[in-house]
Amino acid sequence: MLKRLKELAEEYNDQVVILRRDFHSNPEISWNEVETTKKVAAFLEKLGCENISTGFGGTECGVTAEIRGSSEGPCVALRADMDALPLDEENDVPYRSVRKGAMHACGHDAHTAMLLGAAMVLSSVRDQLKGTIRLIFQPAEEHGLKSGADHMINEGVLEGVDVIAGLHVWSPLSSGKIAYRSGPVMASCDAWEAVIQGRGGHGSAPHMATDPTIAAANIISSLQSVVGREIDPLDTAVISTGKIEAGSAFNIIPDRVNLLGTTRSFKPEVQDRVEKSIGRLIASISEAYQCRAEYKYTRYVPSTINDEKATLMVREIGEELLGADNVEESPLIMGSEDFSYFQRKVPGTFFFLGTGNPDKGTDNPHHSPHFNVDEDILVSGVTILSAFAWRWLASE
Ligand code: NI
Repeated sequence: MLKRLKELAEEYNDQVVILRRDFHSNPEISWNEVETTKKVAAFLEKLGCENISTGFGGTECGVTAEIRGSSEGPCVALRADMDALPLDEENDVPYRSVRKGAMHACGHDAHTAMLLGAAMVLSSVRDQLKGTIRLIFQPAEEHGLKSGADHMINEGVLEGVDVIAGLHVWSPLSSGKIAYRSGPVMASCDAWEAVIQGRGGHGSAPHMATDPTIAAANIISSLQSVVGREIDPLDTAVISTGKIEAGSAFNIIPDRVNLLGTTRSFKPEVQDRVEKSIGRLIASISEAYQCRAEYKYTRYVPSTINDEKATLMVREIGEELLGADNVEESPLIMGSEDFSYFQRKVPGTFFFLGTGNPDKGTDNPHHSPHFNVDEDILVSGVTILSAFAWRWLASE
């Protein structure tokens, strides 16, 4: 069956490339994917998909649709994200972004096009499908605070879904390869914030004031001991201080210091520990220096944790399609991905489709103004997504 799905993916590849270039030329940033949503919905309607629904998170963005097989069975969800990033494109290509301040610099244009490709492939074999395929075109993966995945889930897109798969084109990985990983694969992304309140005064008379900069300086250095001394050395965490705000002149001891930072981790228990330990150090160090502290910790995106069975299926499909040499275990990645929200509700797998090819200039970093996708890999992405859905339905 893989051979048949691959042939279909090849047959539809020209259309997938055209779609990808159209999305690339007309990028829309998080929660502004209005035109993209309309195009995707119209395409799915023409294809004969059922239960098409648009507009999530109180916006007009986001699409879900279903391809129903000839008989009842499980429901497999396939997900693509659709948003662009707020930067100007610097690639000189015929399909370059026509919008200032918006660019598909992470490859979500390719994700959307590949999922439409999979919709074409699976629609062609729908009489042979035993179950339902739910297509999820998600807005706002890049937003951080208002995650498109989170909003779509709250509005019921996972109801009845048994398993979900998604992919990311990946420029650090060579074109023609894929990478999988069971268990944690991408980190959680959180933010922490502290206000250290002292008592301002004259720079020449520190004894008359309570200097919050001393407390803040000690907090910033001590936070690194959480990673070094409190987390199992075999686990991973990052604590970074990104913003320090205090003071107004050289001879004034400031009244307060604001600190802002981020943390990354993979395991929920490490994340819990990091949150607690940062709070403890901020409170106790502030107290030691006679300051008062406020602390806030915001969980942005959870870590991406892949289901073993679904991941093994992607690996097997990849090995059959591309050869074992072209299928690798992914390293842990400190970046985050809101696909993780889906995985908190249903088992799922998120894998990487290599797009790095120095000869084509497609090995630039994600989010760079020079990022571009090797279009020759799209057919593999379409085939693997289709095959995953097919195989899961056939195996249950
Ligand atoms: Ni991305």
